[in-house]
Amino acid sequence: MLILGIDTSCDETAVGVIKDGKEILSNIIASQIIHSQYGGVVPEVAARVHIQTILPITEIALKVAKVSLKEIDLIGVTNGPGLMGSLLCGLSFAKGLAFSLNIPFRAVNHLVGHIYSLVLEYENLSLPMIVLLISGGHTELYLLKENLECQLLGETLDDACGEAFDKVAKMLKKPYPGGPYIERLAKEGKRNINFPIPTLKNYNFSFSGLKTAVLYYLKENPTYNEKDVAHSFQETVIDYLLVAINKASEEFNIKNIGIVGGVAANERLRERLNILAKDKNYQIFIPKKELCLDNGAMIACAAYYQYQKEGPSDFSIEAFAN
Ligand code: KG4
Ligand code: ZN
Repeated sequence: MLILGIDTSCDETAVGVIKDGKEILSNIIASQIIHSQYGGVVPEVAARVHIQTILPITEIALKVAKVSLKEIDLIGVTNGPGLMGSLLCGLSFAKGLAFSLNIPFRAVNHLVGHIYSLVLEYENLSLPMIVLLISGGHTELYLLKENLECQLLGETLDDACGEAFDKVAKMLKKPYPGGPYIERLAKEGKRNINFPIPTLKNYNFSFSGLKTAVLYYLKENPTYNEKDVAHSFQETVIDYLLVAINKASEEFNIKNIGIVGGVAANERLRERLNILAKDKNYQIFIPKKELCLDNGAMIACAAYYQYQKEGPSDFSIEAFAN
């Protein structure tokens, strides 16, 4: 079965083709660099760019996969959460395509899509698993059960983890999205600033206090070293994430740990997870970078499994922002 997966939840026009829920034939992502000059995503602009790029990106995805549109058996598409205008571009496009080809389509929750990046990456997932989803819009901790059902343990009460990276990068006058800039600066910095590790409330996160601490530090130290700020901030965030993982692992007695979402692309996080894994006997599941960031293949994968279980979505299904 050939599945076309589409994600236009935010500022990436992403289309992928996979075979039988596992094999990635193509995974094309067009990032909208236009937003970098504004320091964040402008929703109206994002939707307009999706309209322009969705068709050419789909054509490229099919070409790279070496399949024709007529061979596609199922279309998977993100219908939320995300920016409403952006979501509508992908969802309407997918519905139109499915209708014209007379094939089923399956609407996928973007967060579920991120979790399925694990299914796509690993032949054998060890379940149950504690899964941390860290992206630009979400920070959530789940218990992923044997039947791939997710139990939400906690989420962020304010900023998302990736959002904190983006906002600190903005304070350091770096373009959006800031995560990769922080990572690059941090490589040459030292941990010589004592930012407070936020407290975990049950399993709920909060990043706004840490963000404000960075802001005050920059105001009080106009000659700050941006590399040390980035390094100290990044290490503090990682400390915090590891606290949550350890707490959940202990409480549920689960040593399988999965990390998904854009921030999971961070190499220092991966390095520290590996160190922790040796110490605590964890088995870490973390997809390759291109599957951590928003992509169409993970949506196609989730669509494939959900379609097997529950059949197609109805054409009346709507997009939802939150
Ligand atoms: O999952 P994703 O591609 O899109 C959303 O669903 O939000 O995540 C994007 C987020 C952005 O906040 C970006 O700054 C962050 O992931 N990010 C990183 C890195 N690469 C992307 N954060 C830290 N280190 C990175 N290397
Ligand atoms: Zn995402």
